[in-house]
Amino acid sequence: MDGQLQNVVVVDAVRTAFGRAGEKGIFWKTRADDLAVTLLKALIKRNPEVTPTMIEDCVWGVTNQIGEQGGTLGRMVTMLADWGHEVPGCSIDRMCASGLTAVGFAAGYIASGMADCMVAGGVEHMGHLPMGYMRDTHPRAEEAMGGASALNMGMTAENIHDRFPEFSKEMADRYAVACQRRADQAIKAGKMQGMIVPMEVELADGSELLADADQQPRPQTTMESLAGLKTPFREDGRVTAGNASGLNDGAAAVLIMSEAKARDLGLEPKMRWISSAVAAVDPTIMGTAPVPATQKALAKAGLTMDDIDVVELNEAFAVQALYCLDRLGLEWDDERVNKWGGALAFGHPLASSGPRLIAFLMGIFKENPSTRLGLTTMCVGRGQGYSIIWENLQG
Ligand SMILES: CC(C)(COP(=O)(O)OP(=O)(O)OC[C@H]1O[C@@H](n2cnc3c(N)ncnc32)[C@H](O)[C@@H]1OP(=O)(O)O)[C@@H](O)C(=O)NCCC(=O)NCCS
Repeated sequence: MDGQLQNVVVVDAVRTAFGRAGEKGIFWKTRADDLAVTLLKALIKRNPEVTPTMIEDCVWGVTNQIGEQGGTLGRMVTMLADWGHEVPGCSIDRMCASGLTAVGFAAGYIASGMADCMVAGGVEHMGHLPMGYMRDTHPRAEEAMGGASALNMGMTAENIHDRFPEFSKEMADRYAVACQRRADQAIKAGKMQGMIVPMEVELADGSELLADADQQPRPQTTMESLAGLKTPFREDGRVTAGNASGLNDGAAAVLIMSEAKARDLGLEPKMRWISSAVAAVDPTIMGTAPVPATQKALAKAGLTMDDIDVVELNEAFAVQALYCLDRLGLEWDDERVNKWGGALAFGHPLASSGPRLIAFLMGIFKENPSTRLGLTTMCVGRGQGYSIIWENLQG
């Protein structure tokens, strides 16, 4: 190595459909590792120039690394995909940003010259392994984090409403309605088709289904239908099932390479990694962390928000999305943000949401060749934010 950084590019991004967690979910009888395996196979099928042995590491984000998601899933899935024994893999946990962190790590790896070709993804089966399942929280955890609410994501969203009352429930609901509308338009226009890898699945009642569409979106959502919903996290609260992301099962993955490797193989690089940053905040308002993470990522690249043409912001909760957009200097309904809808509509299978944002950004870049720079950003339980800035190469 000569000390020079390599250019890092995304060549492909895929995902499964996102199901609802629980017995009524399309993946109730499907294992998390099988969701990941499906995507590994799809990436090779879609990119026949790539052979499995070219993959120098397979990095998977997984929040709950137990049961079917344990045992170093990133390594196991390479063998389950019939890639032989020679493809390494590992698992990463940064809760909701596990998958985005996997992509960030892969980018750093490749930039440094340690690898030329990797897969980075994320998977979460919240039906089989619910949030916090089997976690043994330290007796001092609440004290260390500033209160019990830091351990409950819905409560952290209620805390943002409390501390920043300029973001009302009405605004959160209005944001959620707009998100559902954008998602519905994108689905109807066929935007999901290129990225979703269909899977034959068995449902709880034994019937079979081709899982090729997301189960979570609720296109009928209106301000009226949201107004009467319960506030499950606090009596008389403001966070409801309608302005929160759901509980979901799904996976997403990215094929990422040095630009030189992609060009050698004759593959079209879709977007170039510009900078990544992670930041941490008070965990009782964890949803605010995309702001410092984005500011850091922008500063590293010598950019400002004015330079960013497309924003993919993971909406864990409408109120934290509203806060982040406002503090980043964007209007709540800015056309650059979540053009195809976000997690409030599609769902948020934790670790898979980061690579899902990348799949969306890649598609939006393709459709809008005049856009140059894009941001993928998300908040994380325990008070973290992760942001990556990308350059459109499909212009
Ligand atoms: C908010 C939450 C508790 C709701 O869970 P749930 O009760 O299982 O959610 P459901 O989908 O059953 O919705 C509850 C009700 O709201 C209704 N509803 C949900 N979204 C709606 C919408 N957009 N429009 C109209 N009604 C809606 C449902 O129809 C349901 O009504 P019902 O009780 O009459 O059947 C759960 O989704 C959650 O915990 N979300 C946050 C996840 C999280 O913390 N992720 C990590 C982020 S950091």
